[in-house]
Amino acid sequence: MDTLTNTSKPSYADVVDLDRYPIDDLDSDRGRAFVAECKAELDATGVCNLAGFIRPEAVARMVELAGALGDKAWPTDRTHTVYFEQPDESLPETDPRRRQVRSAKHGIAYDYIPADAPVRRLYESDDLTTFIAAVLGKETLYRSADPLDAFQVTTFYPGEELGWHFDRSEFSMTVMYQPAESGGEFLYAPGLRTDDDENYDGVAKVLAGEADADLKVLPSSPGSLAFFRGEHALHHVTPIEGSTPRINSVLTYGERPDMKLNDLTSEIFYGRTSA
Ligand SMILES: [Fe+2]
Repeated sequence: MDTLTNTSKPSYADVVDLDRYPIDDLDSDRGRAFVAECKAELDATGVCNLAGFIRPEAVARMVELAGALGDKAWPTDRTHTVYFEQPDESLPETDPRRRQVRSAKHGIAYDYIPADAPVRRLYESDDLTTFIAAVLGKETLYRSADPLDAFQVTTFYPGEELGWHFDRSEFSMTVMYQPAESGGEFLYAPGLRTDDDENYDGVAKVLAGEADADLKVLPSSPGSLAFFRGEHALHHVTPIEGSTPRINSVLTYGERPDMKLNDLTSEIFYGRTSA
């Protein structure tokens, strides 16, 4: 009796703290108030961080899985500009269009993550997608169609980092499982550029380490779900220090149902293509 098993809706009741974050009840007064609160924070600051969104047992299971799948994690260590464009060698070395930063991390692709992994079940639930669309004020939102990149687990080992960059997408969703002992902080410069003003001088100052006072830290305790608008906020993850790796997931969405990485990007991040 398929109608009774309801296989189209993976269960995530054990994954999310639904008492605090009622994503299963968004049409209620309480649900609507919750969405409005998130939306107001995101619109005002470019960030909405929901601490303790994922229950501790689910977080522990994801950390365990990241360890167990460690040999499947694809290492990337490369340099790029903050814009992910070819460096312009005709400009002075300090110009952000020329200057390169380093990103190094290990990524476990979606197809390696077991179907019953807690946060994979959550990612695949329509309730989460509906909640995210509501906070972003979008009529429709789709989970990525990429078999490798839609949902993955990223580990930053000691010495690894994410270089300063602007996102090429409008927003990103991350779940933190395990922060580093020290280092591994998510720093960002809110509103550093706008649609009309690239503010190359301001960006160059951040890259030169001369703008510490204007930087913010995205809090990231185990189990937090964060919305981040990274198109205008320059951001990076500082090098991991100590012996504890930083482990998180990025949840990928798009406004089209067929969104996938191109082959080149797929090769860089996973060492293969999904074809
Ligand atoms: Fe980013």
